[in-house]
Amino acid sequence: MAMATATSTSISTQFRRTSLFHSSLSTRKSHFFHLKASSLQMQGSEITEEEQVGAPQKKKIFVAGATGSTGKRIVEQLLAKGFSVKAGVHDIDKAKTTLPGDNPNLQILKADVTEGSTKLADAISDDSEAVVCATGFRPSWDLFAPWKVDNFGTVNLVDACRKRGVNRFILISSILVNGAAMGQLLNPAYIFLNIFGLTLVAKLQAEQYIRKSGINYTIIRPGGLRNDPPKGNIVMEPEDTLYEGSISRDQVAEVSVEALLHPESYYKVVEIVARTEAPKRSFVELFSSIKKG
Ligand SMILES: NC(=O)c1ccc[n+]([C@@H]2O[C@H](COP(=O)([O-])OP(=O)(O)OC[C@H]3O[C@@H](n4cnc5c(N)ncnc54)[C@H](OP(=O)(O)O)[C@@H]3O)[C@@H](O)[C@H]2O)c1
Repeated sequence: MAMATATSTSISTQFRRTSLFHSSLSTRKSHFFHLKASSLQMQGSEITEEEQVGAPQKKKIFVAGATGSTGKRIVEQLLAKGFSVKAGVHDIDKAKTTLPGDNPNLQILKADVTEGSTKLADAISDDSEAVVCATGFRPSWDLFAPWKVDNFGTVNLVDACRKRGVNRFILISSILVNGAAMGQLLNPAYIFLNIFGLTLVAKLQAEQYIRKSGINYTIIRPGGLRNDPPKGNIVMEPEDTLYEGSISRDQVAEVSVEALLHPESYYKVVEIVARTEAPKRSFVELFSSIKKG
């Protein structure tokens, strides 16, 4: 997509009060997820093996933009960790070739984020515990596409969560969304990405909507996205800090999934890149280093 090309070159350089995490604590003997024991040996996770025994319900994570280069990795990593996933996709045929087939824990359904919150609420339904948004506009002659997808689409998803009482939202946004306030107006990446339909401004306004909505959010702002495997460790910084750098999509997916498991990520905006010289830090350390928004 346009953002991919652009950033990889230019940046290279009270809804329901329960939350995903608190739900798992409050239902110690009847855990929501049916997570497999082997999948739960994660650092910092307070889900224990004992908690899964006899788990009667299966709660799902709804992933919007699940066929995308980052979205599909999020789906794969969620499934690998034992989550059930509802993949909300723009294009069902593409999903059939992009997403893992024959996985009983994966449900694929049509969910165009531009079609309004009512349809999205139907797709999210009552069995989704959290929504992860990894959408990004598809390049076209439509100059409003970034606004339709990266702004209104995200707003629609938040409104759909509100309709369904879903109180956990993870957004994949971008570093430099608030470039103007950071003194980065002349940063080539900021200029380039905004030339095409004010993409970063659209994303920033969607972020602001989420933050005012009351939903429990983690907004993840990665640097330029790479398809190659991780090179270097994850660096996590507060909002409006990073203006260059890149990161593997695998690591962005990992941060998204770990955010679902760590309450230290609640109500936070985190900026992430990867650096070879950076020390390896646990996700508890990384998320704890960021103040709540
Ligand atoms: N590229 C970068 O360097 C970079 C850097 C920082 C942040 N980001 C952001 O990171 C996120 C993920 O980027 P990516 O490159 O992995 O994305 P991507 O591969 O372009 O995937 C975007 C996904 O959004 C879906 N989508 C588009 N329009 C939709 C609609 N109306 N309704 C539902 N889904 C729709 C696409 O579906 P179809 O394929 O069916 O259209 C696709 O699954 C994006 O928000 C991007 O802006 C990118």
